[in-house]
Amino acid sequence: MSIHTNAIVIGSLLASPIAGFLQCDSVEPEDEPELIADTGVSAEFAADDAPEEEVPLESLFDGEAPTARSFNLRELSLKQLGKFVFFDKISVPAKKQGCISCHDPATGWTFPNDKINKGQVAAPGAVLGAVGTIRPPSNAYARNIPLQTGCGPLGLPCGGVFWDGRAEGNVGPVFAGATTHIDDEVFKGKSLLEDLFAEFLGPVADQALQPFPNPFEQNISAKAVCTHVSRAPYALLYRLAWGEKIDCTNAGFMLSFKRIAVALAAWQASDEVNQFSSKRDKALAAEVKLEGANVAFPLKGLTAQENLGHELFYGRANCALCHSNEPVLAVADPNKAGLDPDELYTDATFHNIGVPRNAKIPGPEGSAGLGARPLVIPDPDDDPTRRLGQHKTPTLRNVDKRPYKGFVKAYTHNGWFKSLESLVHFYNTADVDGATAAAFGVTRCDTTKTDWTEAEALAANCWPEPEEQGTLAIGFVMGDLGLTLAEEAAIVAYLKTLTDTKTVKPPPLLE
Ligand code: HEC
Ligand code: HEC
Repeated sequence: MSIHTNAIVIGSLLASPIAGFLQCDSVEPEDEPELIADTGVSAEFAADDAPEEEVPLESLFDGEAPTARSFNLRELSLKQLGKFVFFDKISVPAKKQGCISCHDPATGWTFPNDKINKGQVAAPGAVLGAVGTIRPPSNAYARNIPLQTGCGPLGLPCGGVFWDGRAEGNVGPVFAGATTHIDDEVFKGKSLLEDLFAEFLGPVADQALQPFPNPFEQNISAKAVCTHVSRAPYALLYRLAWGEKIDCTNAGFMLSFKRIAVALAAWQASDEVNQFSSKRDKALAAEVKLEGANVAFPLKGLTAQENLGHELFYGRANCALCHSNEPVLAVADPNKAGLDPDELYTDATFHNIGVPRNAKIPGPEGSAGLGARPLVIPDPDDDPTRRLGQHKTPTLRNVDKRPYKGFVKAYTHNGWFKSLESLVHFYNTADVDGATAAAFGVTRCDTTKTDWTEAEALAANCWPEPEEQGTLAIGFVMGDLGLTLAEEAAIVAYLKTLTDTKTVKPPPLLE
């Protein structure tokens, strides 16, 4: 079969609504040949003398030597499939919930309802009355989070996604409670596809299997997700990506569901989701252009206050000990740290910063205990509760991204904190026995009251007890930083430079 005949199918796609999506926005539907060029497929594919009948797309790969251009089309299709599925509300009841409902680009890929952020924090599910137990983190920049491998001499947890890293991305679980892993079974003998798509397997792909069947989230079976996608206006993207029609039979739906998850991971790995387009990124890139290898902070593109925030972040305030993927222990000069253009502002490991209990999260368990999974390796302290309260360090990219000024975001795993200002004040003064707390007159809140809100605590100038005492970071690297109010404000100003400047819009067919 000649590769030319495969063009017919691609040509026939041009008549479908997908065509408009695959092409650049600026290209009108009449310009079909250009579309082909834009998608990386040679215009010669659209031979006029091509026969009418459909040619199986899989022949683009099987039996034919694939070209770089057909690879591009595959990958583009996979990512766009993931984008459609991310924005589509695939749930039971229908059209109630999609990934987008809890991970909105306009709020830095977190929860878009500020009434809920102020109150119960946990996202409601598709089913009326079903509510989660923990705050949706950002899903952007998660592509760079490593597999859970167990790190250091003790093999302690590091990597994986979810607040407790349980989407480990490994073939076999490293720690108890790991979620199902998507293995190379999705390639089913398609070794060329494996070469192309294997990079998207890992924690984020494993994660994508979880929200659909979860009764507190999208509440829809794997089979029903498959059927939904097979009937969706974007179903052809599945075929373009995987080289075969989506199979939703009893024998085939699970594989198709996993391939949809791989598509979600591929889109979440795209430059659209991971933009590195913030003020900090731009200022750094501009400085690199000017200074080359001699680049260092302060940056000309940042204000004096933002530059001071950076210096404190990588220096005296210890933030970069946990919020950096660079090894920044014992930084001699904080102005020479934090220069990685790909800085993710997380070490991808787990710490307990002593967040107070959030009594507003419904459910008998509240947020207690979340974040800790039993270790399979011998625990150094032989104490099963030791890790309670540890959560994965979240990225700080987009931490201040919000749809409008005054929109309230919730911070940390249980959303107890409602502002960056109060959280940074907490980092500075959380050790109520420390000198900084004393200087600010901060005390321990009345421990007989167990439902302190942030507003009440700020009004009483006190911090409630940490919900979990295991391996608290307070008293070590945080809680007594000796920062002035102006220095706290500088750190907040720096955090605000980490907001991506473009906001991803829903794909046209779903608007
Ligand atoms: C009802 C709200 C809700 C929906 C719908 C939802 N999520 Fe989430 N998402 C969450 C919450 C809550 C967490 C954290 C859960 C945990 O850690 O136990 C999370 C975690 C994640 C993470 C991990 C990020 C990290 O760095 O740890 C990714 C990635 C993600 N979601 C992607 C998705 C995708 C893809 C979909 C759609 C298939 C989706 N989410 C649907 C609420 C939601
Ligand atoms: C010991 C490691 C550690 C240090 C030091 C640290 N952080 Fe964190 N940070 C974390 C962890 C872990 C969380 C999540 C905690 C949770 O949810 O319980 C977090 C959460 C945050 C959040 C909330 C992000 C979100 O999406 O909810 C912000 C903002 C933040 N840190 C900023 C800072 C700043 C600024 C500093 C320095 C003043 C700092 N952190 C120091 C580990 C650390």
